[in-house]
Amino acid sequence: MSNPGEIDVLVSEVGPRDGLQSIRRAMPTDVKHRWIASLATAGLREIEIGSFVSPKLLPQMADAEEVARAARLIDGLTVLALAPNLKGAERGIAAGVHKLSFPVSASREHSMSNIRMTPEQAVDQVRQAVELCATLTPDHRPSVEVGISTAFGCAVEGAVSEDWVMKMAADLVDAGAESVGLSDTAGCANPVQVKRMFLRLRREIGNMAGAAHFHNTRGQGLANVVAALDAGVTTFDASQGGLGGCPYAPGATGNIVTEDLVFLLESMGLRTGIDLDRLIAARAIILEGLPGEPLYGNLPAAGLPKGFSYAAGGADR
Ligand code: COA
Ligand code: ZN
Repeated sequence: MSNPGEIDVLVSEVGPRDGLQSIRRAMPTDVKHRWIASLATAGLREIEIGSFVSPKLLPQMADAEEVARAARLIDGLTVLALAPNLKGAERGIAAGVHKLSFPVSASREHSMSNIRMTPEQAVDQVRQAVELCATLTPDHRPSVEVGISTAFGCAVEGAVSEDWVMKMAADLVDAGAESVGLSDTAGCANPVQVKRMFLRLRREIGNMAGAAHFHNTRGQGLANVVAALDAGVTTFDASQGGLGGCPYAPGATGNIVTEDLVFLLESMGLRTGIDLDRLIAARAIILEGLPGEPLYGNLPAAGLPKGFSYAAGGADR
């Protein structure tokens, strides 16, 4: 018999970061607090609460310290935040986050336009952040993770060399990253490529291979999840309501939708520890903070099918 609370797949909610960063309006800080708390109540165990980036560039993220501090008070929640550079890492450490994630891009042009650094300079920022973290006491030391952006292709450069992505993954492990995942930033990956790349990642860096981060821009998101599961991936990023999307591509959606992902996993017999009714209820809070914002998701529209049951032995619901 399985232990109560045990899970098979970790769903890491990135809506408060990846979702909100691409929406021009800012969600009020108190609404962020309530949204994150309700996601945790629904069973989400890890939430990327925001990013410690330049507030001039992304004013929506200017309250990251406050949001992180409140999220830290939620029992059992792993508080993750994005940092693009050492300054971001310092801010995240001061706010007490459990994990820092660095956006290191495989595409040179994307890297320059996103963080004004070459991929090599971004790897060096990771190294410096790891060195900084090593000076801290264990209870104040966040782990450093990386999702390699544009790992499956870039909107600017087009195809990205798989050999190069694997070399970057090895360099990032060498720099001290505790986990290195692959991100389909441009939403152009396909399942065959996803399975091949994650299998190869595991061969290159073993159990340091990290999360899959898919965007649903071209509707391939959940197909890519199934392919990544086949390759042994056990952590998936997703965004409630598929929040986000590109302001310059009308109709384009953001990350894969958390609600649909959880339904897929539980239906396939994989325990997530997440309660779908509570998760769907949290959507209302987003709309309190961002009235009229389009929210995506097939499961919330259709509801749970008759006779649906969660994967056996999942968390108490
Ligand atoms: N947090 C807050 N402020 C920061 C910062 C951080 N992490 N990093 C830099 N700054 C400030 C500097 O203090 C400086 O402020 P000043 O103008 O008042 O002196 C200003 O930003 C410029 O600093 P600089 O180091 O020259 O940065 P830059 O202009 O080369 O920009 C980044 C580099 C990384 C800060 C910026 O490109 C960035 O924040 N990118 C993140 C983009 C993002 O989040 N994309 C989505 C995630 S995938
Ligand atoms: Zn993303």
